[in-house]
Amino acid sequence: MNEVLAVIKNRRSVRSFNREQIKDHELRAVLEAAQYAPNAGSQAWQFIAVQRKELIDELSRASKDAAQNHPMPFLRELAADPDYHAFYRAPTVILACSPESPFAPYDCAAATQNILLAAESLGLAACWIYFGLLAFDGADGPKHADRLGIRQGYRPYCSVALGSRSGPIPAPAPRKGDTVTYIK
Ligand SMILES: Cc1cc2nc3c(=O)[nH]c(=O)nc-3n(C[C@H](O)[C@H](O)[C@H](O)COP(=O)(O)O)c2cc1C
Repeated sequence: MNEVLAVIKNRRSVRSFNREQIKDHELRAVLEAAQYAPNAGSQAWQFIAVQRKELIDELSRASKDAAQNHPMPFLRELAADPDYHAFYRAPTVILACSPESPFAPYDCAAATQNILLAAESLGLAACWIYFGLLAFDGADGPKHADRLGIRQGYRPYCSVALGSRSGPIPAPAPRKGDTVTYIK
């Protein structure tokens, strides 16, 4: 199997991180990979790399507050769990932001997948995080956006918890066998 396919197959969502910070050159490589993602919005994105623990913790807390009355029960359950941290206490969090447009979610998602694959290729651990964005839906959403330096008119569409893995590599869920249709 070639290297790219091996990285794609070996990548797993990791939810247990060491406290140790990743190296600056690793963060730069991951963010550079993000910027090489396909995009329909003329690279109209902004990546925020947060390594200040208080800010990451605050985002997690605010997301849990916002999730308390969420229509999805499993998100309410996570919000009620005192041990749950939206970013699993990872030392780095990356937010992929974009101006609102029909393309924004796709651009940010493509960049996020590049981040995850770059992290895997560097031996780092990562997890795509939706939960931690709930903070921006709450009443204090604009305050959080401001504190993080998110540009006016932009919003975060995806986030990633990033660090080094503590604990075993999670096993992949078996792939479902009925998800491809071939037409020849
Ligand atoms: C759009 C999206 C949002 C996600 N949000 C979360 C999240 O908030 N918390 C979390 O622990 N995992 C989250 N994940 C990770 C998925 O749970 C994970 O990708 C899935 O279980 C498959 O596992 P794998 O990534 O190890 O293959 C998210 C994944 C995607 C694509």
